[in-house]
Amino acid sequence: MTPPRAEGRITRGTTGVNRLRRMDRWIAAHPALRHAADPLVVDLGYGASHRTPAELLARLRAVRHDVRVVGIEIDPARVAAAAPYAGDGLSFAVGGFEVPLAGDARPAVIRAANVLRQYDEAEVDGAWRRMLARLAPGGLLLEGTCNEVGRVGSWVGLRAAGAPGAGASAVAETGPETFTIALHLDSLADAGGPSVVAERLPKALIHRNVPGERVHELLRALDTQWARNAPLATFSARQRWVAAVRGLRDEGWPVRDGVARWRLGELTLPWAAVAPRDGALAGGE
Ligand SMILES: C[S@@+](CC[C@H](N)C(=O)[O-])C[C@H]1O[C@@H](n2cnc3c(N)ncnc32)[C@H](O)[C@@H]1O
Repeated sequence: MTPPRAEGRITRGTTGVNRLRRMDRWIAAHPALRHAADPLVVDLGYGASHRTPAELLARLRAVRHDVRVVGIEIDPARVAAAAPYAGDGLSFAVGGFEVPLAGDARPAVIRAANVLRQYDEAEVDGAWRRMLARLAPGGLLLEGTCNEVGRVGSWVGLRAAGAPGAGASAVAETGPETFTIALHLDSLADAGGPSVVAERLPKALIHRNVPGERVHELLRALDTQWARNAPLATFSARQRWVAAVRGLRDEGWPVRDGVARWRLGELTLPWAAVAPRDGALAGGE
């Protein structure tokens, strides 16, 4: 039988050691992984090296010893190059947005980092839907972007409806759930402040950072809070960031989580707080 054609296209394979650590850390804390009935994780479009799926496995293993990671790449040459590193919970396969897995298994998590960046905005919805349809109930799709060294990143967290496992709360709707910004705080002042992330927004938002759009309002508000809390920089960039995020919340932005995650340089909001105003990419079935 001929395997189905991989959906998508081969793009540049740029990657780097430790580049995706902020995404790894966020997935490790996520209920879709922690409560998964079967913690099978896909790193889709892992690029020219086996390193990011290997790092993902190591970081997730600290919270779920039974996790397995499958690196899926649309470029067969990159899969052949990674093959010698397979074993001990790590495997590699050729494929695309259709996320082929042995026995048609449904993953608890799919991470697609720096993949859609090289597609058109009009292709995002179809790619999201295709990957979401492959997830286990309550599963997580992380789709986002970061810079070369992983200091500036952002992503959309999308969920499949249902409960990830026994005792976990059920997700009501399939589609985008959250938007996260994650920044290396000690280099943020030199980088010009939080809106440095404008260049590293997910494809769904990068063309929406214009007046009239919510993500533009968010980045302006965050920069204002960052500037307002500049005196705290004498203590630490972390204190300045935490105060800026708290200020954003006090202004009425529906900021999620608390200081424990803000301290990591993260800011997560519901997707609805940044979603394009024309209703594109609202998600759902
Ligand atoms: C820029 S690299 C990103 C590598 C790694 N994820 C990272 O962030 O460092 C993008 C990779 O995604 C692959 N890719 C593009 N479209 C894909 C698809 N539909 N399915 C699987 N892989 C895809 C490309 O071949 C390329 O190797």
